[in-house]
Amino acid sequence: MKLLVTGGAGFIGSNFIRYYFKAHPDAQIINVDKLTYAANLNNLSEFESRPGYRLVRGDIADARLLEDVFDTPLDAVVHFAAETHVDRSIANARDFIHTNVLGTYTLLDISRKKRIGRFLHVSTDEVYGSLAPGDSADEQSSIQPNSPYAASKAASDMLVRSFWHTYRFPAVTTRCSNNYGPYQFPEKFVPLMITHLLEGKKLPVYGDGLHERDWIFVEDHCRAIDRVLEAGRAGEVYNIGFGHPVPNLEIVRRLIRIVGASEDLIDHVADRPGHDRRYALCTTKIRRELGWEPRVGLQQGLAATVEWYRANPAWVASTRSGEYLAYYEKFYSHRDASLAQL
Ligand SMILES: NC(=O)c1ccc[n+]([C@@H]2O[C@H](COP(=O)([O-])OP(=O)(O)OC[C@H]3O[C@@H](n4cnc5c(N)ncnc54)[C@H](O)[C@@H]3O)[C@@H](O)[C@H]2O)c1
Repeated sequence: MKLLVTGGAGFIGSNFIRYYFKAHPDAQIINVDKLTYAANLNNLSEFESRPGYRLVRGDIADARLLEDVFDTPLDAVVHFAAETHVDRSIANARDFIHTNVLGTYTLLDISRKKRIGRFLHVSTDEVYGSLAPGDSADEQSSIQPNSPYAASKAASDMLVRSFWHTYRFPAVTTRCSNNYGPYQFPEKFVPLMITHLLEGKKLPVYGDGLHERDWIFVEDHCRAIDRVLEAGRAGEVYNIGFGHPVPNLEIVRRLIRIVGASEDLIDHVADRPGHDRRYALCTTKIRRELGWEPRVGLQQGLAATVEWYRANPAWVASTRSGEYLAYYEKFYSHRDASLAQL
């Protein structure tokens, strides 16, 4: 398979590239990434000189750049690129509309014109909005996004849906619950808590901390994407989740125990505006139809994640120093990338 992966220098995209090369050693991957603050080339340094891997720095909303990339024949597109941090979308959603909506449209449009045989759109359970205790969203549930981030992802889902219905463009959408694991930018909840714990800092928990999320280890998500890419039906949506939502405070307490710190570090801070109380997914469809199951339990996954952050202080420091941004400037420009070599 020759894949175009978008946003492959971010958290899930880089884990997916690592997973995919391991599972399919002969695969070829072109990674188109704008290299925003959320990207980190250290996530992918092991692949820099690997035959069959190429990074192209660029914006998925740039049709001309995509024209260049699509000059090479591709089997499938796996679309991760997005602005993803809810708090940032609350402060200013312009970049979210640009990338998540206009970027997805631009990618869909050119993929359709180039007759791509498979397009996997990576979406989120946040499009279903907040659910009551005991409820869970299946793929037919109504779309009720509550943050500007979730609204921009819902808009991209609707574009994907329309391309299937209008053009029979072979797109499939996955909607996954919250991920955690190695290489996640430390502004996100789990790595924020871990890095603060490792540095002995207070642990800022929004409101009462009873907001529930169905935390899934990132490698389980990557394996699900691989499975949907392989066997998911065009035009369909597949929910992906661990299947056991827990309150944020429980995650914090588990992390505290793993690190061996004190619960006195917990610091309840003012809640995020419009903070969704509960996300929960019904994942029967992917389990029954594609035989996928998560393999990594919550305790095992959290312990492995703590261990990874403990072992990689230089990676954490690089996300804070801006040093890696200078590295991008020096080494990567899409016009320099020799697409002909792919
Ligand atoms: N993190 C989660 O818990 C989670 C859960 C479900 C779904 N998702 C979805 O998975 C995808 C990846 O999430 P993540 O957490 O890895 O995100 P991330 O923020 O870590 O990475 C996003 C990547 O996209 C790139 N990017 C941003 N704008 C771009 C543009 N205009 N053109 C090209 N590249 C661009 C960034 O440089 C970065 O490398 C997103 O679509 C997100 O909505 C995430």
